[in-house]
This record gives sequence, structure tokens and C-alpha cells, in this order.
Amino acid sequence: MTITNSSTVRSSETEVPLVELLDERWSPRSFDAAAEITDAQLTALLEAARWAPSASNMQPRRFIAGRRGTKTFDTILANLMGFNTLWAGNAAALVVAVAETATDEGEERRWAQYDLGLAVSAMTVQAHAEGLHAHQMAGIEADGIRTAFDLTERFLPVTVTAFGVVDEAGKLPEKLAERETLPRTRLALDELVVARD
Ligand SMILES: Cc1cc2nc3c(=O)[nH]c(=O)nc-3n(C[C@H](O)[C@H](O)[C@H](O)COP(=O)(O)O)c2cc1C
Repeated sequence: MTITNSSTVRSSETEVPLVELLDERWSPRSFDAAAEITDAQLTALLEAARWAPSASNMQPRRFIAGRRGTKTFDTILANLMGFNTLWAGNAAALVVAVAETATDEGEERRWAQYDLGLAVSAMTVQAHAEGLHAHQMAGIEADGIRTAFDLTERFLPVTVTAFGVVDEAGKLPEKLAERETLPRTRLALDELVVARD
């Protein structure tokens, strides 16, 4: 419930206690470059995504998962933008979240991005249960990912999530290390909630 000074534990400030996995989730950029994700852990992340809810159970989402040291990982890494390239290479795995924005017949999948986000959210919670951390990125080259993995136009790469074992902030380049230890902030509940009785 409180923000601590340690760079690897950054719990949320909440009015009431949350379940531990939600309370302790945060998005680091410093990942242990030696840590690996097991095949079972990666499967658990993908299963968490698979069993997330979706509108009418249409499941308009696909995933591309690469563990560090594989060609898939390197291809995903090469399609990150800007400062994401400075830190994400130490993650144990990179997972592209792809929305199926339309059916084969061209009909819009209205809730695709919402359903995709639910799946990625489930992955992040599962990651924490596995002793891992997750960091989502929208700063990606969607067209480059489409081309590299032969995705047709109706499939939209929306985010890449880095999964791995959190490391000390001090191992990041200076500017990123500073950001890593800034207080985690949110809108106040009364700004967020429009009506409540
Ligand atoms: C859709 C989405 C896109 C994001 N894109 C990036 C990104 O490109 N690079 C980055 O470093 N962080 C990115 N983030 C991480 C957010 O900045 C982070 O979740 C937010 O500051 C809250 O911090 P917390 O996750 O530690 O609570 C993204 C998060 C989400 C959900």
C-alpha cells in the first residue's frame, strides 16, 4: 500500500488494501539481462491471455512471443521505437499483442482492442504470480511487425510487452534510472469516478 525506497518494490498507494498481485504490479524498465523465462512460464502467460474474456467470446487477439536469444525476440526488438530500444533488450521475453480488427469478410471487430487489452492485463497479473514483471509498450513499429510476421492488414500490432525479472534501477542509463524511481502517480478516485452512490 505504500511506496518504498527500494527500486524493485513500488507498491500502489490505495485507500483500501488490494489483492497483492494488483498492489505490487508496476512496470519496470530495468530487467535482469541474465534471467530467463521458462517454457512453462511463457505458456502460463499465453494461457492467461487465452482465457481472458472477450465480447461474444470472439477472441479477436493474437500473440507473437519470443524469448531472449531467439530470432523472434530479435525481430520484435528491432521493431521497437525510440527509448524502448534502450532497455527492452534485457527482458526475458517480448510478446506482441495483435488485434484482429476485422473478420476475413471485412466486418469490423468492434471490441478488438478492448478484448486485446483484457488479455494483456491477464498476462501481466499472471506474470506477477510467476515472480516476473511486465512492461507494455505502444512505442512500436506496427508495420514492421506486420511485415516481419506476415500479418495481413486486418491484424494490427498494438503493443509489445516485455516480461522478465526486475533488476536495480541503477543498471539503467542515467535518465531512465531517474524515471524508474519517481513516485508512481494516478488520478485521485474522485477525478476518476464520474458518479458513485
Ligand atoms: C498501452 C500502453 C502503452 C505503453 N507504452 C509505453 C512505451 O512505449 N514505453 C514505455 O516505457 N512505457 C510504456 N507504457 C508504460 C506506462 O508508461 C506505465 O504503465 C504507466 O506509466 C504507469 O506505470 P505503472 O505501470 O508502473 O503503474 C505503456 C503502457 C500501456 C498500458
